[in-house]
Amino acid sequence: MIEVLGVHKSFGPLEVLRGVSLDVAAGEVVVVLGPSGSGKSTLLRTINHLEKVDRGYITIDGELIGYRRRGGKLHELKEREILKQRKDIGFVFQNFNLFPHLTALENVAEVAALSDARHFLERVGLADKAAAYPRQLSGGQQQRVAIARALATRPKVVLFDEPTSALDPELVGEVLDVLRDLARSGTTMVVVTHEIGFAREVADRIVFIDDGLIVEEGTPGEVLDHPVHERTRAFLSKVL
Ligand SMILES: Nc1ncnc2c1ncn2[C@@H]1O[C@H](COP(=O)(O)OP(=O)(O)OP(=O)(O)O)[C@@H](O)[C@H]1O
Ligand SMILES: [Mg+2]
Repeated sequence: MIEVLGVHKSFGPLEVLRGVSLDVAAGEVVVVLGPSGSGKSTLLRTINHLEKVDRGYITIDGELIGYRRRGGKLHELKEREILKQRKDIGFVFQNFNLFPHLTALENVAEVAALSDARHFLERVGLADKAAAYPRQLSGGQQQRVAIARALATRPKVVLFDEPTSALDPELVGEVLDVLRDLARSGTTMVVVTHEIGFAREVADRIVFIDDGLIVEEGTPGEVLDHPVHERTRAFLSKVL
């Protein structure tokens, strides 16, 4: 469903992704682990073309993201076409990114029909908060609204960038419960998180990124319990 092939990305002299390739099957849940600055957010942002790649390419369900191939060359899509592609790619940010002047329902209805907005608010357990503004909601509830919004376009894949790391510890569980439910129902997901317990329970595969490269990947049992690479071991010894 997601194909990332040989992706390179630099910011000025800093090469942040140095040839990343990753395939995610339909219904698969991939958790991305890695130290701060290793390129995790940049990888997610290239998948929905919030960042342009310098080399390599990305496809979702076989469709090239951000570009069209014509006469053997790649041409960047127009903004309107990119926005259309992004409807296939749900994105959940660390800091929710809700509109403060819109209610929960209006935030979701920004991207979808009202009936879908209601449906997905209910899906994340917030039907009773439809009329509340973000400032009237807890962090966990705001993040669940953001997840409803990401689901409301019925995307083919959903990308999560540290969805719980801005939350107070007692609110992490309710958001992870929603992710767990999505995973069980067959949503194709890529989740950047430091919640190792969640990764162990929910991930089909864990990918460890360091310094812009995938260093190691495998099942949770393989990567968490029997890491092969020294850098994976060093990282895990700090977070476990
Ligand atoms: N727009 C940008 N311009 C310049 N440098 C950037 C930009 N975005 C990211 N970087 C740099 O790229 C590197 C990787 O950043 P990225 O946000 O992908 O890391 P990360 O693995 O998500 O880290 P964290 O765990 O802290 O979120 C960092 O050194 C960061 O400072
Ligand atoms: Mg990040």
